[in-house]
Amino acid sequence: MAKERKITISVIKADVGGFVGHSSFHPALLDTAKEKLNNAKGKEVIVDFHVMRCGDDLELIMTHEKGCDDKTIHELAWNIFAACTEVAKELKLYGAGQDLLKDAFTGTVKGMGPCVAEMEFVERKSEPIIVFMADKTSSGAWNLPLYKIFGDPFNTAGLIIDPSMIEGFCFNVLDVKKGESITLSCPEESYYLLALIGATDRYMVSSVYRKKDKEITAVASTQRLSLIAGKYVGKDDPVMIVRCQSGLPAVGEVLEAFSFPHLVQGWMRGSHHGPLMPVPFYEANPTRFDGPPRVIAAGFQITNGRLIGPHDMFDDPSFDETRKKANHVAEYMRRHGPFQPHRLPLEEMEYTTLPQVLEKLKDRFEKQ
Ligand code: F6R
Ligand code: MG
Ligand code: MG
Repeated sequence: MAKERKITISVIKADVGGFVGHSSFHPALLDTAKEKLNNAKGKEVIVDFHVMRCGDDLELIMTHEKGCDDKTIHELAWNIFAACTEVAKELKLYGAGQDLLKDAFTGTVKGMGPCVAEMEFVERKSEPIIVFMADKTSSGAWNLPLYKIFGDPFNTAGLIIDPSMIEGFCFNVLDVKKGESITLSCPEESYYLLALIGATDRYMVSSVYRKKDKEITAVASTQRLSLIAGKYVGKDDPVMIVRCQSGLPAVGEVLEAFSFPHLVQGWMRGSHHGPLMPVPFYEANPTRFDGPPRVIAAGFQITNGRLIGPHDMFDDPSFDETRKKANHVAEYMRRHGPFQPHRLPLEEMEYTTLPQVLEKLKDRFEKQ
């Protein structure tokens, strides 16, 4: 019997320079990335690709047959980010090469600055997927929507209606501080799961699979720039891939999880909480106080490895009320100015420039 063809989808992203400031992206960098990926496609290194951007982040969406964590694919992405950095430097774009934390490629982009979400699967009869991309936030931002999609029947009707889903889903959760993972099974361990992933700065859902057959259904990037660099170098601005339909949550159930603009970390200087606003591609240009944080959703049908799309999934008036609410919440949070909980708690700011400010005061504290 012929071996089933496995397709890998790799979404690798980095901030290699903003236009203007950290708000948006220059088309010259998109052109550079497209040209390089087109070359790679011509040489059959990849099957297909799509280049996207959200705020000041460049996202390379690639399909190939090399599996996850492949050196060739990671090196391709790294070289493209490096080439785009050169263009960004020529144009003196803001923060050129910001997320490239190492000088030379060493086998994987993980731990080098870019964020990565990859999954490998045998393509189903029809394979709808959604790639989510966020700006001005961190990977913990996916925890709440992922729980709603795969753990909450009030969001996903299929969890109680579709026999393929009724056994539930398993969540792989990473403790980013200790570098350890745990798998928790939903619904029976949902309280344990929530106990962890409600702490969005530390525990992050890295992937979700369907319990009955271990079919991979969602993968999220979990890299934390601050933990890699040891100092503030920007926010992680994570990406996520979700497979939909035919025994998995429907496209509409997956998107429904974003109808509530929940509070996330990462607004202004990576130091503030703000609502995550789902927007169409053309509105992913956060400008008010460098925000509020944005998320876009690119829908694709994967067809023999080809990426048919993208369809702009949040370009729908049914998300207008969510955006309106996000603006209300943004305004409410902004009125707190430098006060918590708009500003992050001190522990979360230890990698920002705040400690340098506090350093200036250290000799003026007196014992009481
Ligand atoms: C970048 C971000 C921005 C910057 C801010 C200050 O991801 O979140 O809010 O932190 O614009 O940037 P610098 O320090 O580069 O002037
Ligand atoms: Mg930036
Ligand atoms: Mg960004």
